[in-house]
Amino acid sequence: MTVRLSTRAAQTHDQPISYFMQQAVENANLISLAAGLVDPDSLPADEVRAALDEILKDAGAAQAALQYGTTHGYAPLREKILARAAALDGVKPHDISVSRDDVVITTGSQQLLYMLGELLLDPGDIVITEAPSYFVYHGALTSLGVRTLQVPMDEEGMDTGLLEKLLARLEKTGELSRVKLIYTIDYFQNPTGLTLSWPRRQQLMDIVRRFSKKQRIFILEDAAYRELRFEGLDVPSLKSLDRDNAHVILAMTFSKPMAPGLKTGYGILPSELVAPLLRFKGNHDFGSSNLAQHLLDCLMANGAYERHVDRLRDVYRHKRDTILDALAEEFAGATGMKWTQPQGGMYVWLTNAVPTGPDSPFMKAALAEGVLYVPGQFCYVSGDNRAPNNGVPPENEARLCYGVASVDQLREAVRRLGRAAAVCGAWEPACR
Ligand SMILES: Cc1ncc(COP(=O)(O)O)c(C=O)c1O
Repeated sequence: MTVRLSTRAAQTHDQPISYFMQQAVENANLISLAAGLVDPDSLPADEVRAALDEILKDAGAAQAALQYGTTHGYAPLREKILARAAALDGVKPHDISVSRDDVVITTGSQQLLYMLGELLLDPGDIVITEAPSYFVYHGALTSLGVRTLQVPMDEEGMDTGLLEKLLARLEKTGELSRVKLIYTIDYFQNPTGLTLSWPRRQQLMDIVRRFSKKQRIFILEDAAYRELRFEGLDVPSLKSLDRDNAHVILAMTFSKPMAPGLKTGYGILPSELVAPLLRFKGNHDFGSSNLAQHLLDCLMANGAYERHVDRLRDVYRHKRDTILDALAEEFAGATGMKWTQPQGGMYVWLTNAVPTGPDSPFMKAALAEGVLYVPGQFCYVSGDNRAPNNGVPPENEARLCYGVASVDQLREAVRRLGRAAAVCGAWEPACR
């Protein structure tokens, strides 16, 4: 008998990256710079064990943590999240018109991203993302039948001048009312490692206010990597510029600064969105893991969280230095090759002299050498023929994640990339 799946199922595709991830699992010798996993050696086993002991040794605390929690999330944790988020921006929650009721705990920030799509977006609505952007989010938008338009980035993040032009064009064609959301990963972006500059933040807020005509345009500020800054001065969040709590939905996660295995994220939202969002969350799971939330509450209360994030900054700085030094050494003097210099997070964006796509000779040579990267074209939405270059994504870029490989593996991975580039005639590797 034929199985008739939903329209949404037909729009829901495997992530193009899955095939390459499978390669990494099957080939033990392969060094993967593709997976966006965190540094394994610094995962906080001791801290989590101690917090778990603390919770479970007390009968009352154990029962509370092992019982169902609320859909909204554990209130003491929401309180701490809010205090910390405000402190990062040097403001008090009431300065930006938020209370702990505007904080929602989710099963990773990914769940929040998806639920916001269900909450705000109808098929045919428009979401604007950075070009390039986080391909998993693009997949969720495709699944929801949403049109994704992209705005190019430069060293300062999303080009707000081009965003303004895009919105003006959509207004002219009568499509502005379909624009519901602008998605930005504004700290150490996945995939480029770039951060939205302070002037651009102000411009973005101004543009969103001006173009919110028939309906409000929201900014989805995905600050998953904000806490992993290891260099330079912090910049205030867009949320902190949204004094009336009207436009910005801040999405953050414990996955990167603590442990993805806890799969706990959160949002700080305009108050009107909270109750409707919770109805969707009720349908999904009526509450994220209560034990994980009690654990995180304990880790935040006893200072272990803060200490861990501090340590992580050193770990990722060292890894960033390692991969940048290795790239500089391997590709010294190479024309047509450049890469970003992230001040935090886990990603370097490489622009190659030759194509990097899944079927390219460079990808084949890289796999043969035993190194894997994310082809940059996966981070673009193709087919918008009004976009630069007729909507054809650049084919010579790559995302390199330095999160999971060890420093020795990072050096070796870059040597392998160098050999792959040499095989393709892109570059002669350094003599050694
Ligand atoms: C930019 C960005 N947002 C959201 C997520 C989702 O993370 P999680 O659901 O584990 O919180 C990720 C994971 O890699 C990410 O890179």
